[in-house]
Amino acid sequence: MISSSSSIEPALEARSRAGHRLSSASAGRNKAVIASTLAGLLPRHARVLEVASGTGEHALACVEARPDLTWIPSEPNDDSRASVDAWAIEAGGRMQPCLGLDVTSADWPRSIDAVDAIFCANMIHIAPWEACEGLFAGASGLLATGRKLHLYGPFKEGDHTAQSNLDFDESLKRRDPRWGVRALDDVDVLAERHGFARESRIEMPANNLLVSWVNSS
Ligand SMILES: C[S@@+](CC[C@H](N)C(=O)[O-])C[C@H]1O[C@@H](n2cnc3c(N)ncnc32)[C@H](O)[C@@H]1O
Repeated sequence: MISSSSSIEPALEARSRAGHRLSSASAGRNKAVIASTLAGLLPRHARVLEVASGTGEHALACVEARPDLTWIPSEPNDDSRASVDAWAIEAGGRMQPCLGLDVTSADWPRSIDAVDAIFCANMIHIAPWEACEGLFAGASGLLATGRKLHLYGPFKEGDHTAQSNLDFDESLKRRDPRWGVRALDDVDVLAERHGFARESRIEMPANNLLVSWVNSS
């Protein structure tokens, strides 16, 4: 379901503002590598739904890297949504108006036309686990067999978890006990429950991953 409320606060690091355009320091650092890596994973002329678009800087970088894409950004937070739409002016029509999407709302895929891929960065650890569940449940309704969901962010991987991600996990839980860096194994189990199989795991800078699951149902 598409909501127009701003009930979800973005829970972000400091952002700078120029008019409606917000800039996040972390998006400034990682948008180029995310855009170039994702560019190698998305089908030609894909319609891509981005969940939790934040400032909109990733969306713009992605359509600049792949001008054939149609990007459908979404955000439950009003301020962030205004920022996405302000950045979209630079995108030459390749970014659609930002949807007010909360993935914990029931039946949210019903309000969105079919897409070829879903991308979501840095949401599942800064939201209750229900957001990850809602993301996969919705993705299974929206993505046809063979289509993929791509998640970027930090993950726990047992003994191989980077110390910086363990520290980040603790700091997130201090802010909200429902948050936390997710175990990749737990996300795999959830994915399988919704008919997805992990297809790739790409190491990204600063101990982040870009992980892709394919709808194999
Ligand atoms: C740390 S920010 C990441 C923003 C952007 N993807 C990035 O990487 O810069 C977390 C985002 O998750 C969004 N969010 C939190 N809960 C959500 C939910 N239930 N459905 C959709 N988005 C949600 C917030 O509004 C916020 O924009």
